[in-house]
Amino acid sequence: EWAEASTVREIVLAAPRSFCAGVERAISVVEQALDRYGPPVYVRKQIVHNVHVIADLQQRGAVFVDELTEIPDGAVTVFSAHGVAPSVRVAAADRGLPVIDATCPLVTKVHSEARRFVGRGNTVLLIGHAGHEETEGTLGEAPGQITLVENVTDAERIEVTDPDRVSYLVQTTLAVDEVAGVLDVLRRRFPALTGPSSDDICYATTNRQAALREVAAAADVVLVVGSANSSNSRRLVEVTERGGIPAYLVDDVGDVDLRWLAGRRTIGVTAGASAPPRLVDETVAALAGLGAHAVREHTTRTEDVHFTLPKEIRTP
Ligand code: F3S
Repeated sequence: EWAEASTVREIVLAAPRSFCAGVERAISVVEQALDRYGPPVYVRKQIVHNVHVIADLQQRGAVFVDELTEIPDGAVTVFSAHGVAPSVRVAAADRGLPVIDATCPLVTKVHSEARRFVGRGNTVLLIGHAGHEETEGTLGEAPGQITLVENVTDAERIEVTDPDRVSYLVQTTLAVDEVAGVLDVLRRRFPALTGPSSDDICYATTNRQAALREVAAAADVVLVVGSANSSNSRRLVEVTERGGIPAYLVDDVGDVDLRWLAGRRTIGVTAGASAPPRLVDETVAALAGLGAHAVREHTTRTEDVHFTLPKEIRTP
């Protein structure tokens, strides 16, 4: 099998890739809560969608649960980066749970837009994926007044009470090109459609897709490091496939099937916003071992976004 993949000549790393500011902050919240309060620290849902991050934090004493009811009274409780519905905040407050909120500030932005649009009496259409924790949280801002639109078909079919009072919002981790298609339909059907003043798809999602698009254009195959439940990582695979280049999602180098690389010369590599840089390094090291003469980075942008930690754990 290794012989089959010996055609690999070059590895091109997309930059930016891997951790975004929201993920770094969310992981720091759990680490600092563990340092400050000692284990166990309870986290509602996965802090970020990555199996290696979760396993590492579990090792250090974090306990991941699906619902607040699984958290003992008085236990330090962290809300994940994807945000929560207001009902979850209320339930935690009712129980007096000491909460540290690791919701990404860019998800919080979408929540406040939801409240603003609903407050105006508008129907809100949330472009996003059903069942994802972020959309569940955002929909929870105004149950019954926010409707999920998953794709162009939904956009064509959706009925609203007053077509002159419709606003849209977008899940932060969607594909830029797909959302543009959905918005084309919504704007045609609801010319008075209003939206957020700045994009809901976050800078990290946008930048990772733009960088990978350029890398993929010169690659024979693309590997995306990320977990199966990571929305932004899956979008990276889909964006590449839409460009006609095969792409595979791998949790780590162990998932790489050498048959994918057989006969390929240039391998593009990126990582979703929740995937640790270490996993990329390991993957590149293994690929380089196949005989690649060159490992280079293709940078389309540099990022300097940083979010401050929640006040509960801000030092001192
Ligand atoms: Fe936040 Fe975007 Fe990362 S919404 S958690 S900065 S992928």
